[in-house]
Amino acid sequence: MLLSLLLSSLLAVQTMAKLELVIPELPVVALFGRDAVLNCSFWGEQASGNLSELSVFWQLTDTKRSVHAFTAGADQLADQSPAFLNRTSLFGRGALSEGNASLLLRRVRVDDEGSYTCFVRVQNYASAAMLLQVAAPYTKPMVTLTPNSNLRPGDKVELTCMAYGGYPEAEVVWQDGAGHNLTDNLTVSQVATELGLFSVRSVLTVMLEPDSTYHCRLTNALLGDDGHASVTITGQNMAFPPVVLGVTVGLAVCLLVLLIALAAVCRKKIKESCEEIRLEEEARELEEEAKAGLRDGKQGAQAEEGQTPVLELSDRVGLTETQ
Ligand SMILES: *[C@@H]1O[C@H](CO)[C@@H](O)[C@H](O)[C@H]1NC(C)=O
Ligand SMILES: *[C@@H]1O[C@H](CO)[C@@H](O)[C@H](O)[C@H]1NC(C)=O
Ligand SMILES: *[C@@H]1O[C@H](CO)[C@@H](O)[C@H](O)[C@H]1NC(C)=O
Ligand SMILES: *[C@@H]1O[C@H](CO)[C@@H](O)[C@H](O)[C@H]1NC(C)=O
Ligand SMILES: *[C@@H]1O[C@H](CO)[C@@H](O)[C@H](O)[C@H]1NC(C)=O
Ligand SMILES: *[C@@H]1O[C@H](CO)[C@@H](O)[C@H](O)[C@H]1NC(C)=O
Repeated sequence: MLLSLLLSSLLAVQTMAKLELVIPELPVVALFGRDAVLNCSFWGEQASGNLSELSVFWQLTDTKRSVHAFTAGADQLADQSPAFLNRTSLFGRGALSEGNASLLLRRVRVDDEGSYTCFVRVQNYASAAMLLQVAAPYTKPMVTLTPNSNLRPGDKVELTCMAYGGYPEAEVVWQDGAGHNLTDNLTVSQVATELGLFSVRSVLTVMLEPDSTYHCRLTNALLGDDGHASVTITGQNMAFPPVVLGVTVGLAVCLLVLLIALAAVCRKKIKESCEEIRLEEEARELEEEAKAGLRDGKQGAQAEEGQTPVLELSDRVGLTETQ
């Protein structure tokens, strides 16, 4: 008795079942330039074989502009918003008759971002809205230094970090070598290109200190960490042990002497003859000389340390990039 009551009430619910839609709960993230699927499936009522009584309307939720329409058994694109021309389709009659009214959107653009409403009618009707978010990865960031010559400790320099072609706006974080966030003396600008993708440029102004590293980290909130770039500034430091300074200056002088010697020998040789074999012999001899010269040069350099110009920091600025 109770069971039959329950059964009949269940049956009643079933016959009175309305059309229901299933759409993604979370925003759909589509990659710029790629194809995206906006899922929308319906159940509770089935479209018959020729789909004549089925209507599917995809609209922009805010403006009600038509994205794609299917009625009377065929696509109806006369009212379609021009922005979607040739870029939309449903998945065919088979999918529709199985309750799949999903939209295929091709070559996603930045301005496709927004809310889309899926409207389905068989006998009853239902609609539901979902969010489409567009994402594009940024290029690997690059860090440059201005000015990048004649640098001395204490100079004010600008570190510029740039990346291109991403969406949405990037989050830029500068860190020092110890991993501390740097929040002062920096600017960030994000400029949109005509396609809506952003170019990011962040400038950090620092007092130049030898042996310091700066990281520029760039994050695309939708896609996660896009990568980072670093600049490491190495160079003489007043705090360097004198021995190290001596060796460094010594090596520099040694190199200079070798280069001058090489130039002199080359010039002489070219005058005498152009025979490559002989040049090679000379080069080998030069190498021997170089080895000997290295030892002598170091001592010599220490002697003239006073008048040797301090090695330009720029010679030793290393730009390293890491992903
Ligand atoms: C669409 O639905 C199918 C089947 O449920 C699922 O595999 C796919 O991941 C969904 N696609 C999107 C973009 O939500
Ligand atoms: C609808 O059909 C297409 C093509 O088979 C499929 O890619 C998509 O995941 C389907 N969507 C759902 C919600 O089943
Ligand atoms: C579709 O089927 C219905 C009945 O099932 C019929 O009345 C209608 O004429 C058909 N439409 C087309 C376009 O064949
Ligand atoms: C859309 O497709 C039609 C036919 O394939 C083509 O003639 C037209 O140039 C296309 N329009 C755009 C904007 O791609
Ligand atoms: C640095 O800033 C980022 C982003 O604002 C934050 O996620 C991170 O926790 C910060 N790190 C430190 C060490 O403060
Ligand atoms: C920022 O720049 C000002 C002026 O150049 C300087 O006094 C200050 O120490 C800088 N702050 C940091 C954190 O470098």
